[in-house]
Amino acid sequence: MAKNKMHTHRHYEEENQWGCGSWLEYALVMILACILLLASLALTLYWVIKHRGGFAWRDDPIKQFNFHPVLMVAGFITFSGFSVLLYRICRCCRRIYVKLLHTVFHALAIPCVAVGFLTVLDSHNLAQPPIPNFYSLHSWIGLVTMGLFAIQFVVGFFSFLILLCCEGATAGFRASLVPIHASFGLTTFMLAIAACLTGLTEKVFFSLSSYYTTFPPEGYVVNTLGMVLVALAIVTGYILQREEFRFRAHILIRSGDL
Ligand code: HEM
Repeated sequence: MAKNKMHTHRHYEEENQWGCGSWLEYALVMILACILLLASLALTLYWVIKHRGGFAWRDDPIKQFNFHPVLMVAGFITFSGFSVLLYRICRCCRRIYVKLLHTVFHALAIPCVAVGFLTVLDSHNLAQPPIPNFYSLHSWIGLVTMGLFAIQFVVGFFSFLILLCCEGATAGFRASLVPIHASFGLTTFMLAIAACLTGLTEKVFFSLSSYYTTFPPEGYVVNTLGMVLVALAIVTGYILQREEFRFRAHILIRSGDL
């Protein structure tokens, strides 16, 4: 109880040290990040519905492919992005609730990524003639991204479970995991952006071919989507490295409330 009071006190002390400029900077970059996360998904949906004929299932592998970019962006960019930013957005909630929400957002990404992966496999295997699998740089980057995401989720989930059963005894162990998990989390997010950018480039060359050089409307949509993803890489990287936005982290590490 006394420990909690001390935390709350120190927490307000730190917040009060923030000047008007710091709050403005914080609000601006957070709002920008949220807009970009939603815009990436909205633009992907707009692109596949308006320019790529929308969605179908296994009877039309070309349109079935369209699930791939939408679900990969939803899972790896929008859900994962919000999940990562939660630690900087939820400044007043108890740490345990933030962790729970972080897990829920990443858990929501799992079905998106799984179905997004299956649809691209189907769209290759059911095409006439079938298209070979895993030949491209994009598919290799994609596999590494999915592998890292799976490892991160399993390690994060188990350390979270351990926390629930023996909080005090595992505080040191969990504290040592935090920087590793955070560093690989950012790497996974950046790799997901690289996978999306290579996937977009590949798709636009497949489908527009030399017509791409004539500045068609679809080219503008895809390029804008790519630039939104680049902006996300810059803004997310900035937010995560900014010490001031890392709320109470040093106090929590010392107290074991991780
Ligand atoms: C983080 C996001 C993404 C991941 C992890 C990912 C992963 C993959 C993987 C593993 C494959 C190989 C499937 C196979 O060979 O059977 C693939 C194929 C493909 N993906 Fe993605 N993808 C992502 C986002 C995107 C996006 C946004 C697009 C944009 C259209 C895209 C376009 C393609 C295309 C055209 C293929 C088929 C050609 C190829 O195998 O390279 N991907 N993706």
